[in-house]
Amino acid sequence: MPPPEFDDAFRRQLRALFAWRRDVRHFRADPVPDELLDRLLELTALAPSVGLSQPWRFVTVEDPARRAAVRASFLACNAAALTGQESARAALYARLKLEGLDQAPCQFALCVEPDPAQGHGLGRATMPETVAYSAVMALHTLWLAARAEGLGLGWVSILEPQAVLTALEVPASWRLVGYFCLGWPQQVEEQPELEREGWEHRRAAATLRLRR
Ligand SMILES: Cc1cc2nc3c(=O)[nH]c(=O)nc-3n(C[C@H](O)[C@H](O)[C@H](O)COP(=O)(O)O)c2cc1C
Repeated sequence: MPPPEFDDAFRRQLRALFAWRRDVRHFRADPVPDELLDRLLELTALAPSVGLSQPWRFVTVEDPARRAAVRASFLACNAAALTGQESARAALYARLKLEGLDQAPCQFALCVEPDPAQGHGLGRATMPETVAYSAVMALHTLWLAARAEGLGLGWVSILEPQAVLTALEVPASWRLVGYFCLGWPQQVEEQPELEREGWEHRRAAATLRLRR
């Protein structure tokens, strides 16, 4: 097979995919077909990883009791986060919806194996955090691919990681990267929800150019 030629039309579409990818917290109830989820998970194998170690471990969560434990952790952590807000921002923080755990038909955790045999340790001796970076690359691959299918993904990090790992009963060595809600978005938006709610706005990329 010859390598593909990416033309201007494709590049415009790709930019639109980046621009219209959203963190989604409001989902319709319709299920995500298993074969679609499988296709998205298979695509993550194409992501880059340190030493080609593919250290990510996706854990789909259907069990209502485990989902309830994750939600309980979110509620506790979010209440603590609210008390930590400056008074000027507390009311706005309290209004934000920061998860879709009550609605998302599909939910999964992303864990990482911190010392994978695959990859033979290449690239991570001085930077062990590269295994987590690799897992995030896989997640971003899935995030964009999901958007291309019309699906929305929401990242939930307001969690006590050990509470989630315990609820999921994953191998003891695994570390939590994040917990994710996947489903059909109630609305398609070009602007981040945090921007629409007045919490923060997107800025131009910050770059530092070290010239000769
Ligand atoms: C590492 C990470 C953790 C995040 N955690 C949360 C979270 O706990 N709750 C939430 O509502 N959004 C979370 N987000 C989503 C961000 O708020 C969102 O990406 C940002 O506001 C920009 O919006 P956009 O993704 O729609 O462009 C997280 C995103 C990242 C990358």
